[in-house]
Amino acid sequence: MTHTNKQFHIQPGGRLEGRFKVPGDKSVSHRAIMLGSLAEGVSDVTGFLEGEDSLATLAAFRAMGVKIEGPYDGSVRIHGVGMHGLQPPPEPLYLGNSGTSMRLLAGLLAGQTFDSVLTGDDSLSRRPMGRVIDPLTAMGARIDSEAGGTAPLKITGGRALRGIDYALPMASAQVKSCVLLAGLYAAGRTCTTEPAPTRDHTERMLQGLGYAVEVDGPRACLDGGGRLTGGAITVPADISSAAFFLVGASIAPGSDLVLEQVGMNPTRTGVIDILQRMGANIDIANEQVLGGEPVADLHITAAALKGIDIPPELVPLAIDEFPALFVAAACAEGRTVLRGAEELRVKESDRIQVMADGLQALGVSAEPTPDGIVIEGQPQLGGGRIDSHGDHRIAMSFAMAGLRAEAGIVIDDCANVNTSFPEFVALAQQAGLGVTE
Ligand code: S3P
Repeated sequence: MTHTNKQFHIQPGGRLEGRFKVPGDKSVSHRAIMLGSLAEGVSDVTGFLEGEDSLATLAAFRAMGVKIEGPYDGSVRIHGVGMHGLQPPPEPLYLGNSGTSMRLLAGLLAGQTFDSVLTGDDSLSRRPMGRVIDPLTAMGARIDSEAGGTAPLKITGGRALRGIDYALPMASAQVKSCVLLAGLYAAGRTCTTEPAPTRDHTERMLQGLGYAVEVDGPRACLDGGGRLTGGAITVPADISSAAFFLVGASIAPGSDLVLEQVGMNPTRTGVIDILQRMGANIDIANEQVLGGEPVADLHITAAALKGIDIPPELVPLAIDEFPALFVAAACAEGRTVLRGAEELRVKESDRIQVMADGLQALGVSAEPTPDGIVIEGQPQLGGGRIDSHGDHRIAMSFAMAGLRAEAGIVIDDCANVNTSFPEFVALAQQAGLGVTE
């Protein structure tokens, strides 16, 4: 694959205004394809994210013989094949940049009768997979990886899986979901216990498609051998994509923005809590439940933010939003301290180091620590050149930093914005950000 350096050029200043809906939730879109494929009957998905990550999951299921129509403007029709209807993929399944695809599929494929191989891009091939290989091996699966527990993953089919009672060593919805998906194919009961609440879209969607999952606080349990029934799946707008606009509108004086029908699953709303603690003006209106997930309209106006100590219990609830929150912290009055977020070092990039380097390039005092960062806010940011390290969320966060910069910002390696938010540049321009590709 040829690698071109897609750049974002950001003009300094401006403000964000308007009213729109950001694209569909990435986590829910992955799960819609996976569970819709395993269900009996047709599942009609609306609001599907047409980003490279969720499209990689869609392509993987097509490669395993599932008939999937679309996406057409966020609509996807999946002709489910039932729990035992997947076909052996003719080639390794290439999952691009998508950690969710690889970790969830590893669980699901460990329970199939056929062998499979999962591959990804350079970033995904560096990310830790031992966290899913270990519990799956304990269930009786066989998964071979590169030394160090990285992809490609070679999954041997035809193994008899046994249910386990697994205490997750880290707060990870991907690991929890992987174990539960393998549990669908295991003999007996599979339970996970998480050290802190993580996104529960897998549990909700399983229940929505008729599979009994017992959830009791940090514990989720299911019995293997059940069935899923296809149905309508509504994907809410992605709060992780909304987060760039929540931060942008908060830091840019004069901003006034409404984001419609944003997913408000309580395991995902840490970004709102953290911004509100920093003094952000975010009004939550029109709360409703769509397809088993809460949504609301968010109205954001600019605010004078203050630095805070981020409560550790909010870390897993905002895990994907820290790059954007660090930009908010850089524009806040005073110091912001984050601890207990070592997971950020094993995301699409090392988000602690890459954000610290980028903020420093804009003249901000940002000191990385092993499990977090200390950021001293300042009234204005400098301009400069940022290396996003191919990490979509780093690129979009620094794009928003331009709203408070005194000179232009050039961001390198932005192609992966297409993994989660292909419409980002168009929507940001429409809202008033001076961004060009
Ligand atoms: C995800 C879970 C999170 C998150 C990722 C998507 C999911 O990862 O960072 O972007 O869809 O389950 P971890 O569960 O590894 O923290």
